[in-house]
Amino acid sequence: MTKVAIWCRHAQDNLIAVGKNIPWQIKSDSEFFLHVVEGCNVVMGRLTYESLPNRTIPNCKIYVLTSDYTYKVSDKANHFVVEDVRDFKEFSEDLYIAGGAQVYEAFLTGGAKLLPDIVVDCVYDGALLPDLKGNKINISSCLPILDKKYVKVAENQVDNVTRRMLIKRGDFVDQAVMKKILSLMQN
Ligand SMILES: NC(=O)c1ccc[n+]([C@@H]2O[C@H](COP(=O)([O-])OP(=O)(O)OC[C@H]3O[C@@H](n4cnc5c(N)ncnc54)[C@H](OP(=O)(O)O)[C@@H]3O)[C@@H](O)[C@H]2O)c1
Repeated sequence: MTKVAIWCRHAQDNLIAVGKNIPWQIKSDSEFFLHVVEGCNVVMGRLTYESLPNRTIPNCKIYVLTSDYTYKVSDKANHFVVEDVRDFKEFSEDLYIAGGAQVYEAFLTGGAKLLPDIVVDCVYDGALLPDLKGNKINISSCLPILDKKYVKVAENQVDNVTRRMLIKRGDFVDQAVMKKILSLMQN
């Protein structure tokens, strides 16, 4: 089934976070993310999970990657702990990969069965919020893989964010998933 990675990175430095925070607040971008993943399976690292308001995304099943099998999720019916990213190799449904940097890298470098079929590469070209504390987290390591293994099929711009949809070169990609994302990009 289809794997989709979705992120918003800062232009030039590929920053996705400073500590626990995304260093910009673009309402249309967070709404776009929520629409893309609505009703879907989402995988994320523990730190991204802990950065979500109330540790949840409405109407989603969330798979939290952590080495701690005793980790307590906020919603036992819909959130699940996964210790090994390789468990997603044979995942039987569509899966949305929602970060952070460690998780994007694990999927993009994890071999053919983990490599996302589609990447929704959003790039914010604007000022960063001031005074945020914490490590600067970037996804620069993922970009050479995008250049080498993906081809752009759509692009548009909303509120200083350029959204690009990329698909794996030379592979069949589910048209229904592509159409859904395309239609959300255009709204
Ligand atoms: N701008 C964006 O698009 C975007 C998207 C997503 C997240 N973010 C931001 O990114 C930040 C977090 O990113 P991050 O890279 O620091 O952390 P992260 O990837 O969200 O989480 C890292 C943690 O996830 C677990 N993990 C990661 N890979 C694993 C693997 N292969 N197997 C098992 N466990 C694994 C580990 O948990 P344990 O330590 O428990 O073992 C690790 O410490 C947050 O500030 C978030 O808001 C931004």
